[in-house]
Amino acid sequence: MNVAIIGCGGMGRLHAEMAANCGLRVVACADAVRKAAMSAAAPYRAKAFENPMGAIKSKEVDIVVITTPTPTHEKYVLAAAKAGKHIFCEKPFGRSSLECKRSIAAAKKADVKLFVGHVVRYFHEFEAIKAQIESGAIGEAGWVKLYRGGIYPGNAKSWFRDYAQSGGVTFDCMIHDLDWVRYVFGEPKRIFCQALLRKTPTQLDYSQVTMRMKNDVIATIIGTWAHPSGFRVKVEACGSKGMVQFDSSDAPVSGEARKTASGPTMIVPMSPVAVSPYQREWEDFLGWVEGRSVPRVTAQDALRAVQMAEAALQSAEKRQPVKL
Ligand SMILES: NC(=O)c1ccc[n+]([C@@H]2O[C@H](COP(=O)([O-])OP(=O)(O)OC[C@H]3O[C@@H](n4cnc5c(N)ncnc54)[C@H](O)[C@@H]3O)[C@@H](O)[C@H]2O)c1
Repeated sequence: MNVAIIGCGGMGRLHAEMAANCGLRVVACADAVRKAAMSAAAPYRAKAFENPMGAIKSKEVDIVVITTPTPTHEKYVLAAAKAGKHIFCEKPFGRSSLECKRSIAAAKKADVKLFVGHVVRYFHEFEAIKAQIESGAIGEAGWVKLYRGGIYPGNAKSWFRDYAQSGGVTFDCMIHDLDWVRYVFGEPKRIFCQALLRKTPTQLDYSQVTMRMKNDVIATIIGTWAHPSGFRVKVEACGSKGMVQFDSSDAPVSGEARKTASGPTMIVPMSPVAVSPYQREWEDFLGWVEGRSVPRVTAQDALRAVQMAEAALQSAEKRQPVKL
């Protein structure tokens, strides 16, 4: 099968590599910045497009990968569905739950597979913690605490620094943990969030969520884009029989800086294991496309994650808990 990458920044390049590792052909790379499209296309001898719609409509393309800034996801999902292509969309699924709902409807109407990259579900350490909780190793779970922090992504002009586009660390980054907590502990009941919510471009964002789940588990999640360098993840789940913990600084997790033609830099957590979690999510997606399996994450899950992140931002604005 042949792949088109839409958005050739940090994640576009990473997913091109993962798709190629899975034996797919990267045939088209599109980016609003021509130089970015050309440099991403070069290693694969793919065609570079400045207009993503040209790549999406291209007859030889079977799968469209959407790795553009979050508010642009919907228009490319809609175009890819209309063109009858299967879709791999980066998280957050959309900048609003309404956008996500329209995307789900379009994929359903076109009968194409729509997958959203909630990669934390594929990280081995998160997988192991989930398995231990489900095996009863910690007894009845009571409290889970997560921490995810890295440098402020992008350069001074990057879309990441515009709250309207990225939603800051609360929406863009903590959505990973919001999704994982729901994946492991079920539906949330209410959420309270305190966040810096700075509207002027700044190199600092910090946010804390407290969430009560329907099964009464309490989750606290901290997300920061305040690190001078690197990326750190911590998890702690406490239950009636014990506790399970993970701290990425105790494990040889390496950060990876990705420079793009237009300048932005992103550090994503990389796993020291042989098969990257980013490749494992591709294998899962392909199993679905090829009719061999159902994926670990559905578009509906990704919509719920956006709804939770929206509620977190709403709570931070109102300084009140929000029911979910
Ligand atoms: N799963 C993860 O671990 C992870 C990590 C980082 C980012 N992300 C998500 O991936 C997506 C992309 O993030 P990134 O870090 O690669 O961003 P980036 O800024 O590095 O890259 C975005 C690229 O899209 C291009 N672009 C911008 N607007 C466009 C448009 N309208 N049409 C076509 N191209 C356009 C830019 O020129 C740039 O090359 C975002 O939704 C982000 O939240 C996910």
